[in-house]
Amino acid sequence: MAQQDDNLLKKVVSHAKEYGFIFPSSEIYDGLGAVYDYGQNGVELKNNLKEYWWRFMTQVQDNIVGIDSAIFMHPTIWKASGHVDAFNDPMVDNKDSKKRYRADVLIEEALDKIQEKIDKEVEKAAKRFGDSFDKVMFVSTNPRVQEYVKKINEANERLKNAMSSSDMASMKQLMTDLEIADPVSGTRNWTDVRQFNLMFSTEMGSIAEEANKIYLRPETAQGIFVNFLNVQKTGRMKIPFGIAQIGKAFRNEIVARQFIFRMREFEQMEMQFFVKPGDEMNWYAFWKEQRLKWHHALGLGSENYRFHDHLNLAHYANAACDIQFNFPMGFKELEGIHSRTDFDLKSHEKYSGKKLQYFDTESNQSFIPYVIETSIGLDRLFLATLSSAYKEEKLEDGSDRVVLSIPPALAPHKVAVLPLVKKDGLPEKAETILHDLKFEFSSYYEDKDTIGKRYRRMDAIGTPYCVTVDHQTLQDDTVTIRHRDTMQQDRVAVASLRDRLAEDCSMVSLLKNIK
Ligand code: GAP
Repeated sequence: MAQQDDNLLKKVVSHAKEYGFIFPSSEIYDGLGAVYDYGQNGVELKNNLKEYWWRFMTQVQDNIVGIDSAIFMHPTIWKASGHVDAFNDPMVDNKDSKKRYRADVLIEEALDKIQEKIDKEVEKAAKRFGDSFDKVMFVSTNPRVQEYVKKINEANERLKNAMSSSDMASMKQLMTDLEIADPVSGTRNWTDVRQFNLMFSTEMGSIAEEANKIYLRPETAQGIFVNFLNVQKTGRMKIPFGIAQIGKAFRNEIVARQFIFRMREFEQMEMQFFVKPGDEMNWYAFWKEQRLKWHHALGLGSENYRFHDHLNLAHYANAACDIQFNFPMGFKELEGIHSRTDFDLKSHEKYSGKKLQYFDTESNQSFIPYVIETSIGLDRLFLATLSSAYKEEKLEDGSDRVVLSIPPALAPHKVAVLPLVKKDGLPEKAETILHDLKFEFSSYYEDKDTIGKRYRRMDAIGTPYCVTVDHQTLQDDTVTIRHRDTMQQDRVAVASLRDRLAEDCSMVSLLKNIK
């Protein structure tokens, strides 16, 4: 079980604010629940993350193209997709604390606690038996562990049934049987469990009688499905092919906590891959592998990722898993990979009355393709990057520094050009160097404060290189280049800077790293 580090999350939140990465939305009006704004450094990091995804999907892959569909869509789309009827979360309130929770999350957390008890038993036994310990044998025979396993399996089955049949009374009964208490009040004084639809709605049209209720999209995927034939025909796409899209999605989350992990307005990067019916499991395996490689190449540590198969499949899926990341709150979903069958296209055919079929020239047959979907939350990827990059270090001279070891290609600025002093022609020379670099690399210029303070500020926003212009530069056209992570400084020719930055900081190097 992953260690939770609430302290780390708190530090990341305050660092993100202090250094212009993320601000609470509408802060001067005391904020708006689970909505955030990206600041001057945050937007650069976010754009770089988008570029890494977009280029991998639409440029490195041969058979994927991108679109950008509107947020407002015809309301029947959400009926066809199942969101009007089934995009619900079970909600429950504690009457004493007045706090609101998702009942399924409370149940899952209670089961995690039982799992922790199993882990403890295993740990104790492993110590007791030493080298001769056989974990599989122990788990399958120890009576106490067996009882816990049985309890978890039975509860999972009941949860699955209650969710799929929208049986909220059974959900409440399960909470009672598991003796779930409110973490705030400590009591079990719960309201009934109710279904809550997560879609935001608004009205389109100026006159009340004419106005139509429309929804803010809760996923970008439907914009891809309804454009499937437009793209296939105008792009002369042959199956298998994919359509990718990055855009905002909106969900009225019941419990929106943990910073940008669960927001009410967020951004998704989704790709629907259209395949022949029957081929979907091969492509499902293919995309699981591709996506994990993409994550690993980022350099946030491959030990921080794991797959988690879904036991409770959504109404449209015949296989699904998450790629989980080791966030400060423990391993949690970062990306979903779903085999969505032909559910969406079939349903849009039914509701729109328009054919959404692919004509296969080889077999001379038309069919509705099956779909593999990869769907990652950009804000969660941002949090994964920021929280794994955040480091506090004690330096040899006894001072402290906070450094963001953001992969160089993603860093808001690749290089800071710093004149050692603000006189003797050094600022002018630094500006010339800056001008040579800034068209290719996001660059920063600063001439205030001591050089040590400026280095620290660059460390705190994750700038991989600082180039310092000193008096020697005026004589021999060399500068010192300081590396963020090692703090090592080398003297190099100004003429070599471009190649050095291109090698270490370019998106191309990062993309080529995906093996
Ligand atoms: N089209 C499929 C779909 O939307 P999902 O698992 O509901 O699937 C996909 O969402 C991804 O979107 C998640 O893995 C997560 O990264 C991100 N996501 C979902 N809800 C979110 C929220 N409230 N705040 C931030 N990111 C969210």
